[in-house]
Amino acid sequence: MTQTYAKIIGTGSFVPNEPITNDMLVERLAKNGIETSDQWIQERTGICQRYWANEGQTASSMGEIAARNAMEMAGISADEIDLVVVATSTGDMLFPSTACLLQSKIGAKKAAAFDVQAACSGFIYALTTANAMIQSGQVKTALVVGAEVISRLLDWNDRTTCVLFGDGAGAVILRASDEPGVLSCRIHSDGDLSHILHSKGVIYNGAIKGEPFIGMDGQAVFKNAVTLLGDVALEVLEDAQLPVEKLDWFIPHQANIRIIQAAAKRLNVPVEKVIVSVNEHGNTSAASVPLALDKAVRDGRIQRGQTMLLQGVGGGFTWGAALIQY
Ligand code: UT7
Repeated sequence: MTQTYAKIIGTGSFVPNEPITNDMLVERLAKNGIETSDQWIQERTGICQRYWANEGQTASSMGEIAARNAMEMAGISADEIDLVVVATSTGDMLFPSTACLLQSKIGAKKAAAFDVQAACSGFIYALTTANAMIQSGQVKTALVVGAEVISRLLDWNDRTTCVLFGDGAGAVILRASDEPGVLSCRIHSDGDLSHILHSKGVIYNGAIKGEPFIGMDGQAVFKNAVTLLGDVALEVLEDAQLPVEKLDWFIPHQANIRIIQAAAKRLNVPVEKVIVSVNEHGNTSAASVPLALDKAVRDGRIQRGQTMLLQGVGGGFTWGAALIQY
């Protein structure tokens, strides 16, 4: 019996408005008496600029544009989509899910739609879920989106977090195929590390209770990210029996260039094979991997038949990897 794979047949992305450069951010924070510099941000994170949504822009509105771009590349219409999965921690509403709102926006009437919340690993979790549903024969065509307006969770008085994050959306269309596509996926969590990265606000009696801003122990996140990204990469490579030298592209979560470089070094992946967009987008949480992927597909770096390793890591603690033949 032939194996069914989930194959990427289209990618898309969207970032809102004009870029906010480090210098623009430095100026804005100085008005609050918060000191930072372009040099610190670039040296410690690799970030040069990021994008922020307007009040009217949401995860579903940005996700819609990314999804339409992916559908156009795939050459499919909305009624061919059986499943919409949106990875987000900053959805439009508590409910309905952002995926349902996106389903309505694109008119994917036949689809089942739901959100996945795994912070910065969300896209890998969503992809893993969609892949399993395609492999089991439940669905044929899936739209998987990572979309975030993480700027809404930023405390402008906390320079250790507010310089890091940006907004955006990325999407892929997966379709059942006999040709190799997703080769192996692995996702993991450790709730004992929930204290190192969180946004603790809740709705209670109609009001926000607690701290809805991002709280982070940056160094603990950094260390765990490098170790766990390395471990899960080896897991999927071993599962697919692919030697690391055969890997064409490495697309890790885009949080910090130093995390990306350390993870690549640990795996022995040369820098030329690493796709980087953190310089341009900042950390866009669940949108970071599909944003970087779409950029490299559209500029012609990623070619059909090549293998790529996508990785997420973030709050939960959560982490995961997907090894894919494009
Ligand atoms: O998607 C997952 C989410 N998060 C992450 O992946 C973040 C992971 N962690 C990191 O990326 C890094 O830990 C940071 C970028 C957050 C921080 O870099 P670091 O090299 O670990 O710096 P640090 O926390 O050790 O701070 C070094 C210094 C401190 O000053 P002192 O105590 O040495 O005087 C900070 O107060 O840098 C200071 N600092 C800043 N200075 C200027 C912290 N933030 C800033 C800032 N501008 N924005």
